[in-house]
Amino acid sequence: MYSPYENFVNPQWVRLLELLQMNVRYSRCAGAELFAEDGCRYLDFLAGYCVHNTGHNHPKIIAALHDELSRSGPAMLQSHVPELAGELAANLCARARACLSKVYFCSSGSEGVEAAIKFARAQTQRDGLVYAKGAFHGMTCGALSLMDDPFWTKGFGPLLRDTRGVPFGDLEALRTALAYKSVAAFVVEPIQGEAGIRVSTGEYLREAQALCRRFGTLFVLDEVQTGMYRTGGFLAAHHYDVDPDMVVLAKALSGGLIPVGAVLMTDAIYKSVYSSLRRSIVHTSTYSENALAMRAGLATLDVIDEERLGARATELGEYLRNSLRSALEGYEMVAEVRGIGLLNGIEFKAPRRLRLRLLYEAFMKIHPGMFGQVAVMRLFRDGGILTQMCGNNFLVLKAAPPLVVTKPQIDTYVLAVRDMVDLMHHSASYWTEALRLARRAINI
Ligand SMILES: Cc1ncc(COP(=O)(O)O)c(C=O)c1O
Repeated sequence: MYSPYENFVNPQWVRLLELLQMNVRYSRCAGAELFAEDGCRYLDFLAGYCVHNTGHNHPKIIAALHDELSRSGPAMLQSHVPELAGELAANLCARARACLSKVYFCSSGSEGVEAAIKFARAQTQRDGLVYAKGAFHGMTCGALSLMDDPFWTKGFGPLLRDTRGVPFGDLEALRTALAYKSVAAFVVEPIQGEAGIRVSTGEYLREAQALCRRFGTLFVLDEVQTGMYRTGGFLAAHHYDVDPDMVVLAKALSGGLIPVGAVLMTDAIYKSVYSSLRRSIVHTSTYSENALAMRAGLATLDVIDEERLGARATELGEYLRNSLRSALEGYEMVAEVRGIGLLNGIEFKAPRRLRLRLLYEAFMKIHPGMFGQVAVMRLFRDGGILTQMCGNNFLVLKAAPPLVVTKPQIDTYVLAVRDMVDLMHHSASYWTEALRLARRAINI
């Protein structure tokens, strides 16, 4: 079938989906369900990488957007005070607590990270940046400069100088990096999503914050995935009792319908950037503060409150992990089930049994990245579950369903994972197909 997307946008993406037998045409998406044109139904345990916290196409958010459009109010004038942005900012600051009292809006997580880098440099008058290895902060040059996986950075030329990665969780390495007193910000995800759902200990984040304060470095949390009640609280920071100087939000903030990003910061940081009338728009972006994104943001927060989605994330996250742990007990390739709220990872490891180990090693030699993709493909095709591996760790299967997911839907997911893991351990045809796919992936 003729596909303008394939011809004019990204043919390689289409080929990858074809290879994985995941190139499905969806006709309707609602809550945690995706309905395909051919009548199949899928459960979404990816949620657009934590975009659809309120579920797909929430009617109240859509109604708010309809209202905003039919109001024919001012949009993109660039010469007025957009009060909706003020309302959303006040709401976000009230939820964030601590000293976060100003918000810069933008249109994506990467753009938020870029802003945080500039603002940290403005406030501290330092250039250096420290990040945690394995991080994922976005695809723009500044954000890429805070990521060490060469898959994302290679071939794109020089990035920012003066950046340094330290192992996640390693306070000694952080102390050494900050001790030069030339570091503007330590940027870290409280739970590293793409690195494999690596959950911080409270001690790590609190001590990291203390080190930042001691050496004059700003403590910046990237909560693009973990924020907006994904882990139960508005911010994951709230689990750890830390007081970041800046927090970056995006993704779920506008109900998955309108691009948005937000940097929450202290007054002191704001003042160091927007320090005079002349500098009142010294950092800005055309579509930031746009009325549709702001209305969607306010409606999203209302929905989250009305449907108690934070509490749901906590309760159902525990239910998900307990169910997974008992369903996967005894399977030697399952290393760990971990997470907080509805951000969950299942880590796989090499098997010990000789026959299985030979298959696994043969496969890893051909295409290590495909191990997880085969699991994702089987879950999709056999179990009707949409999910993904972590972007920087192909041995960790991520589950981040919309927070409106139900217990029966979680049960369906757990059963599908159990069936897939069982095939991985006991079925020769699972590995034959996997090996064939891995060979095709390197040849096309
Ligand atoms: C933790 C984190 N930070 C930043 C980003 C970049 O956000 P965006 O894709 O909206 O630019 C992402 C994207 O997945 C992310 O997961």
